[in-house]
Amino acid sequence: MVDSIKLRNEVKLPSVGLGTWQINDKDLMSEVISCAYDSGYTLFDTAASYSNEIALSKAIARAGIPRENIFLSDKVWNTCRGYEQTIEACKKSMKKLKTDYLDLYLVHWPASVKLYTDWAQINADTWRGMERLYKDGLVRAIGVCNFKTHHLEKLKETAEIMPFINQIEYHPGFTQYELVTYCRENYIQIEASSPLGNGRILENDQIKEIALSIGKSAAQICLRWGVQNGSIVIPKSSDKDRIMQNIDIFDFELTEGQMKILSELPFCGGLNLDSDKITEFG
Ligand code: A2P
Repeated sequence: MVDSIKLRNEVKLPSVGLGTWQINDKDLMSEVISCAYDSGYTLFDTAASYSNEIALSKAIARAGIPRENIFLSDKVWNTCRGYEQTIEACKKSMKKLKTDYLDLYLVHWPASVKLYTDWAQINADTWRGMERLYKDGLVRAIGVCNFKTHHLEKLKETAEIMPFINQIEYHPGFTQYELVTYCRENYIQIEASSPLGNGRILENDQIKEIALSIGKSAAQICLRWGVQNGSIVIPKSSDKDRIMQNIDIFDFELTEGQMKILSELPFCGGLNLDSDKITEFG
């Protein structure tokens, strides 16, 4: 049984989903989705920039998965920021996904403070587009990715509805404590992208030691840590055994001591992309 999380608008989603970044081949996508669905995944996370929405939609159809059984999450890319462009981008993505609604739609990156003096206005306009989509019933929940506290604080000045979700890199060694605390205080659900640090934290000795003592894998320890901290985790894998393993995290619990060790780990790998410093994403 997969735990679920309720957003503040009562929309429920599973606490483990499948990330699809870098899964582009359509046959591989079919194998992955079919295996994931059979293993209990119902949340599938994609993005316009992953260029795999059509492959995902075909895979869902090929596996015969009823639309209402799954939670589809997509993201607006940086080149489509702004009120009208955001609405247009969402409609295009839905067409590719062959659906007339999305369960979750996210702003992929905030406008870079380094590139745009009017970054706050750009984010505000994009967000108005997101709110329109939500009010029109095209998306069941709206959120952001990679927003820091100052992006959210600025958004608060103009937003009618604050994001329900902030999808950020979140894993042992990269806990973004202040941002996560801010989100919790503002009822913004954390969704952990790269919950395995893009696979780069799994050789850490302390994580491996805890894994060994419980009889689980290092990946399962990281994912359990995320879920036990109240976040949604969306590990990406295109390997059948790992897909199954990554959702098999509900038959054990980490102790307070183990949680503390994992929460206090220094940075030991991951992407660590800073939405203020990164300029190539615009
Ligand atoms: P693969 O697709 O070959 O399984 P993240 O979700 O943090 O971005 O991590 C994704 C990376 O971690 C991918 O390279 C993926 O490779 C790898 N990965 C996913 N699940 C596991 C697992 N259970 N054990 C080891 N590596 C994993």
